[in-house]
Amino acid sequence: MAKMRLYYSPASPYARKVRVAALETGLDKKIEPINVALTPTVPNADVDKHNPIGKIPVLSVKGMDLFDSPVICEYLDHQHKRRKLLARKGRERWVALRLQAMGDGLLDAALLARYESFLRPEDRRWPEWSQGQMKKIDGVLDQLEAEAKSLKRKPTLGNITVGCALGYLDFRFASHDWRAKRPKLAKWFAAFSKLPSMKATVPPPA
Ligand code: BEZ
Repeated sequence: MAKMRLYYSPASPYARKVRVAALETGLDKKIEPINVALTPTVPNADVDKHNPIGKIPVLSVKGMDLFDSPVICEYLDHQHKRRKLLARKGRERWVALRLQAMGDGLLDAALLARYESFLRPEDRRWPEWSQGQMKKIDGVLDQLEAEAKSLKRKPTLGNITVGCALGYLDFRFASHDWRAKRPKLAKWFAAFSKLPSMKATVPPPA
């Protein structure tokens, strides 16, 4: 199989999804990781060459640049013979895709809130904007708590995404204490975090 190159940052939760998927499918050995630094205000010329949106992760393979994380994960899932991370059909597939949408939606809101508090100059910050993003995060967390049973232990594209999203909250929003009112979700995450693939991809200390 052609060697693949993954443009990533150890802090990116979207890249973490791909790295967990690569480890779970055994494809990590075929991937050359390229650690890049970028923010929305300081782009990376190398990443821009491979993704017109200027975002990571990007997987370069066979002369093709694949982005973003759902596309890369699905590509990887077609390149291995182990148990599939995304069921090809049936209810299981839609459960996983729906969980992925919730995890990615939580992350989209978390990143917007993070940029607002971290990147935007203080005098131009908009508290209602940040509150709006936090409301979306809490909405997803409450929904995940209500359906924690569907998360399961075996890694799927859906629960990997949710796991990486919760990991990002611990990394960048530690004071938000998402566990306080969500014991079932917290219990699931504690168990899921023990997977070697999750342990190997924990973001570095902030
Ligand atoms: C972060 O440092 O929070 C971050 C870095 C890259 C992508 C997304 C988030």
